[in-house]
Amino acid sequence: MNREVYLDNSATTKPYPEVVEGMVEMLVNHYGNPSSLHMKGIEAENAIKKARESIAKALDVKSGEIFFASGGTEANNMAIRGCALANKKRGNHLVTSTIEHPSVLNTFKFLEQEGYRVSYIGVDRYGRVNLKQLENEISDQTILVSVMHVNNEVGTIQPLQEIRNIIDSKKSKALYHVDAIQSFGKILFTPVQYGIDLLSLSAHKLHGPKGSGALYVRKGVRIHPIVFGGSQEFDMRSGTENVAGIVGFGKAAEITFDNFNHGVSVMDENKKYLEEKIKETMDHVVINGWCDGQNAPHILNVSFLGIKAEVLLHALEAKGIFVSTGSACSSNKPSPSHVLAAMGIEKPCIESAVRFSFSSFNTKEDVDYCVEQLAAIIKQLRKYVRR
Ligand SMILES: Cc1ncc(COP(=O)(O)O)c(C=O)c1O
Repeated sequence: MNREVYLDNSATTKPYPEVVEGMVEMLVNHYGNPSSLHMKGIEAENAIKKARESIAKALDVKSGEIFFASGGTEANNMAIRGCALANKKRGNHLVTSTIEHPSVLNTFKFLEQEGYRVSYIGVDRYGRVNLKQLENEISDQTILVSVMHVNNEVGTIQPLQEIRNIIDSKKSKALYHVDAIQSFGKILFTPVQYGIDLLSLSAHKLHGPKGSGALYVRKGVRIHPIVFGGSQEFDMRSGTENVAGIVGFGKAAEITFDNFNHGVSVMDENKKYLEEKIKETMDHVVINGWCDGQNAPHILNVSFLGIKAEVLLHALEAKGIFVSTGSACSSNKPSPSHVLAAMGIEKPCIESAVRFSFSSFNTKEDVDYCVEQLAAIIKQLRKYVRR
C-alpha cells in the first residue's frame, strides 16, 4: 500500500483528534439549544462562550467582537454585503483586488448588479496589490476596501499596513475588511495592529471542522445582517448555532495558537525543503508568486512546464500524494486560475501549475517521498511530451 501524503492543506486540513473528541462530546452529551432556558441550553451557551473567548484571545480582541458563521464564505458575505447595505447612504463605491477568493469576488459581482460601483485592483507578478492604483481609486464615495491577507493559490502576503496607511492618507471613512482565512494560524498578527474593521476566519483551514467560521467586527463598526431570524449571534447571524462546529473551531484555535511557533516552523521548513529539492532535481520548473519574506509558510505553487497540472495531480494521487491545481473551490471546474492570470503568468505556466500546501502534520519524510515520486512521474511524462 502507498504511503499517504496530504499536501492540500489550503483546501482543507485534517481535524485535530481533540477537535473531533470535543465535537462528539457536544453532539452526544451537550446537545441542547443554546437559546433554551434550561440546563441543557445553558451548557451549550457556555460552550459557545468559551469558544468565542478562544478565538478572541488568538486575535487579541474582545470576545464580543467575534460572530460565528457557517464558514469563511459566509463571513466574507456578511462583511461585504453587510457593509454595503449599512453604508448605502454614505457612498456606493467598493474596492477589492483581482485575486480574491470567489466568495469575495462573486459577492462584489452581485453588488455591482445591485447598483454599487466596484474597483478591482490589479496585482504584480508576485500577486501583490498595486498600491498606486489603490490610492487612485479611493474617493469620498468609497465605503469599503476588502483584501485578502494571504492568497490561497500562491501564498502571497498582502501589505496590510501600507493599505491601511493609504486609506488614512486619503482621509477615507471606508471600512477595511480582510479575508484572513489562509493566514489565521499561519501568521501572527492582530486586526488592531493594522486597523482592520472586519476580518473573516474559517475553522477547517486550521484543523477545525468544515462549515464553521467567524467574522471579527471591530467594536463601534455597524454592518447590516444578511440572515434574519431569531436574533442569535447578537442579531448579526440568526439561526440555531452549530454548537459542535463552534466548539471544534475554538479547540482548533487553542491548539494551533498554543503551538504556534513550532507549527509554523514545521510548515516553513518542509515547504522550503520541497522547493529546494524540486529546483535541485528537476528541470523546467517555475515557482509562482515567490517573493522574499512575503510568502505564507504553507503554500508553494510550482509550474512543471510541458505537463498538464491535472495529469500530474492524478499521477501523484495514484501514489498516495494529494495536491491541488488551484483553489479547491474552483478546481472542479476546468477553468484557468484567475489568480495566476491576474499576476500576468504565461499560459504554459498556468496550465502546468500545481499547489502544494502544508500543515504541521507533514514531515520531512513526506517531502522526500513526494520528491521521489514527482521526479519519477515527471521523467515518465516528459518522454511523451514534445517541448
Ligand atoms: C482565501 C479564502 N477565502 C475564503 C474561503 C472560503 O472559506 P470556507 O471554505 O470556509 O467557506 C477560502 C477557502 O478555500 C479561502 O482560501
